[in-house]
Amino acid sequence: MHAQVAIIGAGPAGMFLAHLLREAAIDAVVLELRSREYVTARVRAGVLEQTTVDLMRRLGIGARVAREGLVHAGTTLAVDGDAFHVDFAELANGASITVYGQSEVMKDLNQAADERHIHVIYEACDVRPDGLDTDAPSVTWNSPHGTHRLDCDFIVGCDGFHGVSRGCIPCDALTIFERIFPFGWLGVLAEVPPCNHELVYANHERGFALASMRSATRSRYYLQCSLQDRVEDWSDDAFWNEFALRIGETFASRVTRGVTFEKSIAPLRSFVCAPMRWGRLFLAGDAAHIVPPTGAKGLNLAVADVVVLAKALAGFYAAGSRDGIDGYSDRALARVWKAERFSWWLTNLTHRFPHMDGFDRQMQLAELAYLRSSRAARSAFAENYVGLPLEE
Ligand code: APR
Ligand code: PHB
Repeated sequence: MHAQVAIIGAGPAGMFLAHLLREAAIDAVVLELRSREYVTARVRAGVLEQTTVDLMRRLGIGARVAREGLVHAGTTLAVDGDAFHVDFAELANGASITVYGQSEVMKDLNQAADERHIHVIYEACDVRPDGLDTDAPSVTWNSPHGTHRLDCDFIVGCDGFHGVSRGCIPCDALTIFERIFPFGWLGVLAEVPPCNHELVYANHERGFALASMRSATRSRYYLQCSLQDRVEDWSDDAFWNEFALRIGETFASRVTRGVTFEKSIAPLRSFVCAPMRWGRLFLAGDAAHIVPPTGAKGLNLAVADVVVLAKALAGFYAAGSRDGIDGYSDRALARVWKAERFSWWLTNLTHRFPHMDGFDRQMQLAELAYLRSSRAARSAFAENYVGLPLEE
């Protein structure tokens, strides 16, 4: 088989890229380890920046998010139960975010991929990129029918944090930057109306809590927890009691308790690998960088990477220009680092750290008080939260 571009991984990064390349009439094949059902059903964050929603519309996959997505023009921060509002409409030139689950985004991407005959191969085992430092790279993989090989011009690793691509780059060509946070997030879904019409980020003496949602009848709630905790340690009662305490009285009185499902614990990590290209291999999305979920930047960052990369590849194929592909890593990383900073900052501002002393706590409280009282500080928060411009 031959294709101009081999994409490894059919998560958001891989599928957005496949659509962008199709738009540029570049021939691509996507190779995915898991089944389509598995990839679609994964429950991840659900906040789309305006640029992500705009891209979905441009790609002709924006009808459902326009209909069903919940547009939020602000968010609330709470400190030990005392809440204040950040108004994006007022502070960020009328920008907004849209709450729409990643699994819904995947459904839209996959359905349009079927209609457009985008070639996605699921359950491709032992995917192995080869010849990355030559002009003729290839990818091999196994299926129940045997071993297969795809020759291509470029390979894009969109295979997430645990994928195979990043490891193909020699260690001495890569720099890894990493911060592992000493806690996790316990997340639940519940078929109950959300406790607020917008998101609430709560810093509480006992730890962070976040009230989010998937629809007017489905809530997505999170609690900071210990990395030693297991899902079984958290009964529904224990979850609701702790959530009510941390989110504060005003919102607690509006929490509808119900049976929780999709209960899971996720670690929090900041991670960047630089550069995001080696030879004929490009990395995009979680394969190259991870943000802690505070601020919900992960999916939006993956989208921003592949927008830059698709433009670079389009420039290469249409005009023979190498500028875009040579500049990809620097351009993508410029935006990545800003999102890393914001996600790290918001995590530090809102979570309880194990070795925090009185001084650390006062610094958090002072910064939150400053946000509450200063329009300039709230503007900086809003500008980052709704998403920085795609290309700078
Ligand atoms: N071969 C083929 N596919 C692989 C391999 C492999 N060796 N390893 C992983 N994959 C697939 C995974 O099964 C997954 O479907 O690559 C895909 C990577 O998807 P994500 O982990 O979602 O990463 P990305 O597309 O970069 O998404 C970025 O969305 O899922 C969230 O947390 C993620 O917020 C981040 C954003
Ligand atoms: C979510 O709805 O899953 C979500 C929302 C906001 C975040 C993180 C996750 O910051």
